[in-house]
Amino acid sequence: MPFDKPVLEEKGEAVQKHILGASDWTREDILDFLDHAEAMKPYAAREKLFSAPFEEKVTLLFAEPSSRTCDSYHEAAQLIGCRTKPIVGLEASSIFKGEPLSRNVVTEAGYNADVLVLRTKIEGGARWVAEMLEAYHHHTAVHNAGDGSNQHPTQALTDLLTIRRYYPKLGGFRFGIVGDLKNSRTVHPLLEAFRLLGSDVDIVLVSAPEVRLQPWYTYGMRVHEHDRLEALEGCDFVYVTRVQHERFASELDYQRVRGRYVVNRKVLSMLPNTCRIMHPQPIADGEIAPEIWRHPQVIVDEQARNGVPVRMVLLVDSIGQLGSSGFPESPPPVIQTTRDESTEEVLERKKNSKLHVTPVDNGMIVDHLQHRFSDKLVPMLEAVIGPLDNIVIPARGLDTKHPLPGGKKDRLSLEGCFLPDDIIAAISLMAPTATFNRVENGRVKWLKVQSVSAINNLGRCPNPMCVTRLDVEAANFPKFHVVQHGCTFLRCHYCDQHFGTNEVFI
Ligand code: NCD
Repeated sequence: MPFDKPVLEEKGEAVQKHILGASDWTREDILDFLDHAEAMKPYAAREKLFSAPFEEKVTLLFAEPSSRTCDSYHEAAQLIGCRTKPIVGLEASSIFKGEPLSRNVVTEAGYNADVLVLRTKIEGGARWVAEMLEAYHHHTAVHNAGDGSNQHPTQALTDLLTIRRYYPKLGGFRFGIVGDLKNSRTVHPLLEAFRLLGSDVDIVLVSAPEVRLQPWYTYGMRVHEHDRLEALEGCDFVYVTRVQHERFASELDYQRVRGRYVVNRKVLSMLPNTCRIMHPQPIADGEIAPEIWRHPQVIVDEQARNGVPVRMVLLVDSIGQLGSSGFPESPPPVIQTTRDESTEEVLERKKNSKLHVTPVDNGMIVDHLQHRFSDKLVPMLEAVIGPLDNIVIPARGLDTKHPLPGGKKDRLSLEGCFLPDDIIAAISLMAPTATFNRVENGRVKWLKVQSVSAINNLGRCPNPMCVTRLDVEAANFPKFHVVQHGCTFLRCHYCDQHFGTNEVFI
């Protein structure tokens, strides 16, 4: 392998092809990235040179403004010897003419992009592109250089490398974060990384109520939320963010929030004299006052410089993985048969119970649905498995002994149709009271969904900035992960936002 010796010797096992979001990493991955980035620093500073440089091509497709991320990627790619092709600014690309992201990147991959570094306002855009390129059999590795308000994973590693110089164990400190926490994509993966690292960190969040952090980023962590800068007292780091003007629905909404927090000399004097002030930059609206820009506690330039060794390592890792697939399959739902009887036995029992029965010769019965839920379910099923006119016998408003509202239920009997497991699992999430029978060859099987971790090709992500809403091809492939935080949430596989099941399946 054409790595330089000192870097090679340091390399462990954990390498990744695509860099899409912090949720893909383990603790070991993060520590490994950081160790390698540390070893890469002399190469980033041109004190050492790669003796066997790479020849791959890195395409930088930046459809949103960037200085640090784009330029440090460019520098990193060139330092390891790669060819670079910058496509910078939306107007430089046919995306500006309305071309879907999918079509645009497939073309770039066809022009020998070995690594595609993508910045887009479309949330989940990089993940979608990485999966799609694999589906189209391109070997291209994709790096997410910022997707809307969602993620900026390479910045999180840059920030961690910076923090680690002061706290080598990456823990045992109080970490304040100020500003637009809802829309700042650098904050989200950084918090996820703290969680993955199991860092002993107290998090202090200071923001206006309009731009408060979404709760799922800090589940299970020690968090204090405030709206006053005084809450930062005692912090070992204060991470300042810009109010993300471009993400607001209206200028008025932005004006309401901007300028609320300024870290200036007075604030600095309130903080411990070992506290470091960080910012992913750009400092666009005076959120760190110029009077302290040169102060030694303000480490934003060190932070920006660290982007080069981090991105060198990530590029080297990806290039080493170009021949492999970057995605593990998500585990299928686990569905068990809890009872297995002959149809005669079942019919005999039902005859005595006076309950309405719709016999099915071969097919499925989805029973104990809340009354009127079948009106919603049938069109949803039709969207995935085609017209059900001739196979579904809906029965609405039946009496039931089950604890359903109004003592009424709906039932769908599907003749000649067996629902696939992932659809059964999705129905059980939408309608937890539903029961499923499979009737086949004179036997009736009672099915029970034991576990489900992902829902594919069903439902709709409510986030209007999600790639599944903004890319015509991605719209056909919604995907959600089932997560438990007290109750069940669905996390969009692409934009990472969390929703209740009733928001996804409407
Ligand atoms: C940030 C970004 O683009 O998300 N900057 C960066 O990449 N270093 C922060 C911002 O724009 O506020």
